[in-house]
Amino acid sequence: MQNYSEIEKNTFAEDILKGLSSNPKFIPSKYFYDDEGARLFQKITELPEYYLTRAETEIISTQTEQIFNVFKQKSKDAETFDLIELGTGDGRKTAILIDFFLKQNTNLFYFPIDISPRTLSTLAENFRRKFPKLQIEPKFGDYFQVLKDFKPNPTRRKILLFLGSNIGNFSYEQSIEFLKKLRRLMRKGDFLFIGFDLQKDPRLILRAYDDSQGITAEFNLNLLRRINKELGGNFDIKKFSHYATYSPIDCAVRSFLISLENQSVFIEYLQRSFDFAKWEAIFTEISQKYSLQLIEQLATRSKFEIQQNFFDSKRYFVDSLWQAV
Ligand code: AVJ
Repeated sequence: MQNYSEIEKNTFAEDILKGLSSNPKFIPSKYFYDDEGARLFQKITELPEYYLTRAETEIISTQTEQIFNVFKQKSKDAETFDLIELGTGDGRKTAILIDFFLKQNTNLFYFPIDISPRTLSTLAENFRRKFPKLQIEPKFGDYFQVLKDFKPNPTRRKILLFLGSNIGNFSYEQSIEFLKKLRRLMRKGDFLFIGFDLQKDPRLILRAYDDSQGITAEFNLNLLRRINKELGGNFDIKKFSHYATYSPIDCAVRSFLISLENQSVFIEYLQRSFDFAKWEAIFTEISQKYSLQLIEQLATRSKFEIQQNFFDSKRYFVDSLWQAV
């Protein structure tokens, strides 16, 4: 596993330069997840308002056998699987699946990919202790970066895991591009097990991104702290405020940091300053919500076939099991 390098710092700097020079300003949401951001996201998953993780955990823990059976039946004699996970977080949901697979005497290779080095090494350590039979090879980095030079064994059946509605951070066009890219790395018959947060009461959705304890606000403000820390920025965190919206028309949550006054921020590493007008917004994240129709469309357009949808009891969330066609 490699560590945070100069190259990554440069990429971060370039992306910040681009984002803060744009109109409207933006910061790519993958930068949420430094060690502190990963810790804050962990806290978000435990918030009463953030139903996503609980709903998906319910699906995976109550329907483990049904999920396993689809993989098993749809891959005939395959006993060996490459489980490749994009964005693992703490891996609690994945552990439930892995435990079941191993108990069925499946030969399992696990490739966790995550952008937060600490998250990834903690996960690898936990899983090695918990599952001595599991063959595990952690990959640190951005999904695209890692997948580009990923050459897993072509004789093993692949299962790609993309849980948590992480796909929601992409716009519609980006998600099609992303899924097509994934599909090109797969062979016919390989699987994608992918989580989508479903449309529901808009008030409930918005609350999940605007919690009463302000953890989500901290999570967003941490982007500015990260720029201060890694790029020598002088953001005054008190002069920015987190704001989230949900539009039931395009079914997307959008999150922002709003400048509370006219101000100028200097970033040493970039050797330049950026002006913020009072009430100007920095766009930080899109969290798309889905209809089953939209999910069907994504699968078809990226050359997958939906094998089965697994819902939680409230139908807040779906884990959709796709097979490459
Ligand atoms: C990890 C991308 C699924 O969009 O729901 C949580 C991130 N942002 N609260 C999401 C997040 C604000 C989360 N994903």
